[in-house]
Amino acid sequence: MQIPTKKLINGFEIPVLGFGTWEMGGKYERIENYDESGDIAAIRKIIELGGSCFDTAEKYAKGYSEEILGKALKGYDRKKLFITSKVDVLHMKYDDVINSCKQSLARLQMDYLDLYLLHFPSLNIPIEETMKAMDYLKEQGLIKNIGVCNFNIERLKEAQSKTKNKIVLNQVHYNLIFREPVFAGVLEYCQNNDIFLEAWRPIQQGSLANRGIEILDKMCEKYNKKPSQIAINWLISQKNVITLTKSSNPLHIEDAINSVSWDMTEEDVDLLGKDFPIQLDRSNAVQLK
Ligand SMILES: NC(=O)c1ccc[n+]([C@@H]2O[C@H](COP(=O)([O-])OP(=O)(O)OC[C@H]3O[C@@H](n4cnc5c(N)ncnc54)[C@H](OP(=O)(O)O)[C@@H]3O)[C@@H](O)[C@H]2O)c1
Repeated sequence: MQIPTKKLINGFEIPVLGFGTWEMGGKYERIENYDESGDIAAIRKIIELGGSCFDTAEKYAKGYSEEILGKALKGYDRKKLFITSKVDVLHMKYDDVINSCKQSLARLQMDYLDLYLLHFPSLNIPIEETMKAMDYLKEQGLIKNIGVCNFNIERLKEAQSKTKNKIVLNQVHYNLIFREPVFAGVLEYCQNNDIFLEAWRPIQQGSLANRGIEILDKMCEKYNKKPSQIAINWLISQKNVITLTKSSNPLHIEDAINSVSWDMTEEDVDLLGKDFPIQLDRSNAVQLK
């Protein structure tokens, strides 16, 4: 089964569900003598089950997550994969952006990225300088598309005004519990401006995979699905929303793949949106400052 895609009016197309690599090989540091075999097997399992879209970052395990992803994907047809990486907030100067991208490509053993993102807005480096470097990378064919993460509306507008290219995607923390993109207007802005909102942490690292919340349990029974699958499908049922989960567990991967390719009714999407009992207006990980 192929994961379905969504397409913007401007032509940019991406699978509705991608797979992240956060914590593969470590968090902010590389774990020495890490056993990569489980992550590599998981990435290959995702492909075997129809996944093709992967997300990583130079920041994850100091580049080691990219290395693991690169090893796992070696030998697959590059054209059939969709690979995203991100430049760290500490590398937003012109030359640093270019170096970071080249180093990410080397670790991934690839010659282009489908999408390159600014990992966080920088408070020090003028966005104009960073976007010029992103434009250069696109001109050189090292990246196919440009996006951002954790940008509020003002920053999105400013970034867009400083690039020749369309910003196609904003990656933010969004799930049934964490609703900051709705409260801050970012979701509506993306929907009205032909930008994807890519929701990271769709199952809140497993918290939304458990039974015990009445409305979620009812949806599980109605659709014969698990809570994590309802949580993921709720996101991708929304206009311009796609998502990214992460798992190195074969059973969780199967669950994730079976979260897509079926439709929740509009009424149920609205009901979960309104009546889900815990709705927080601030991320507990990153604020849309
Ligand atoms: N741009 C940003 O600032 C930013 C920030 C955070 C994340 N991201 C990206 O978004 C990706 C997804 O975010 P996330 O990793 O936090 O998402 P998530 O899917 O909400 O959480 C992943 C965690 O949940 C566990 N899990 C997965 N499926 C499960 C299930 N069915 N039941 C119970 N536990 C389950 C996984 O463990 P197992 O491996 O054991 O299944 C893993 O520890 C990241 O990997 C990263 O690539 C981007």
